[in-house]
Amino acid sequence: MSRIYLSPPELSGTEADALVAAVRGGWLAPVGPDLDAFEAELAAIAGRRYAVGVSSGTAALHLALLAHGVGEGNEVLVPSLTFVATANAAVYCGARPVFVDSDDRTWCIDPELVLQELDRRASVGTLPAAVITVDLYGQIAAAEGIVERCRDLGVAVIEDAAEAIGATRQGRPAGSFGDVGVFSFNGNKLITTSGGGAVLTDDVSVRDRVRFLATQAREPVLHYEHHELGFNYRLSNVLAALGRAQLSTLEQRRERRRATKQWYRTLFSHVPGITFMPDDPAGVPVNWLTAMEIDPSLAGFDRDAVIATLAAADIESRPIWKPMHLQKQFAGSAFLAKSAAAVSQRLFDRGVCLPSGAMDDVARERVVAALRPLIGHVPSS
Ligand SMILES: Cc1ncc(COP(=O)(O)O)c(C=O)c1O
Repeated sequence: MSRIYLSPPELSGTEADALVAAVRGGWLAPVGPDLDAFEAELAAIAGRRYAVGVSSGTAALHLALLAHGVGEGNEVLVPSLTFVATANAAVYCGARPVFVDSDDRTWCIDPELVLQELDRRASVGTLPAAVITVDLYGQIAAAEGIVERCRDLGVAVIEDAAEAIGATRQGRPAGSFGDVGVFSFNGNKLITTSGGGAVLTDDVSVRDRVRFLATQAREPVLHYEHHELGFNYRLSNVLAALGRAQLSTLEQRRERRRATKQWYRTLFSHVPGITFMPDDPAGVPVNWLTAMEIDPSLAGFDRDAVIATLAAADIESRPIWKPMHLQKQFAGSAFLAKSAAAVSQRLFDRGVCLPSGAMDDVARERVVAALRPLIGHVPSS
């Protein structure tokens, strides 16, 4: 019996051929036709003019911030409920993250808190250099108000869509919000290149700056000439070939994750105190991970019990992200919330992410059997 993972890589079936073709074609050198084509495909999916393939989502965030002038001593508003890479990217630039609580209606960054903070800072002349919104677990953040205000104030908006390729909001795709979008192709993401990422932009000067910084900031002359600090962050042509093979079945992946979330909703429908991550009515999430909150006083069990029960059956699940304002690494950082009972902390204390990859009937039956001692009778789907 094999382990059921939280979000294992899924093959479209054409990956091996794509890799062999890239190698046989001699395109082992860093860039090449598959990278050009992958970037064009990504730009189209994100509704952007340009995409730049890089070595990770983290690298993409770092370069997106640098290309928008974020630097030493700046501040960047960041949702507290996210993966650490979002905040680290600001720190790599020498900036300080200012953490913002989640909105109970979406679990993403609370736009009211961001707008209040922008107004307060505008009035005292301490605007942040950027705001990063995160499309949590595949749901695009309600960023339009933030984008509008930031445009007026001259503050950059970065959409961290690492978890959301293929999602839409108000008919617009993930990666298209704000000044610049970011994807991740980490092994656990909907589309993987085993490791990789992309920066998405409509601005040709941002595209060129990101490419330049990603290739050691090498000046365009024959010899190796460098005037500033650069990075070795470019995605390779071979990995781009893998990414193209993965992208060819994006629609099926999206449909499978949607069906998985629906299946869990039915599975837990008779259990009191369970709240799935709310689907924002303005969007179509991609459900990268199915996440739910458990009120132990109503359900009769807590998130640790779910995780332990599943683990005993060799099934992986995880608590919801531990908020950044609670991490030792960021001790002393500013945190903005509407009340002392922060939404992000409550979601961490009570939330769990369930196995969300493709699961056949046998795997689903294993999940049901493992959970039965907690949830008792299981409704048929
Ligand atoms: C919200 C978010 N931002 C950034 C990243 C970083 O991406 P990568 O692992 O490709 O560096 C991830 C995931 O890994 C993520 O979930």
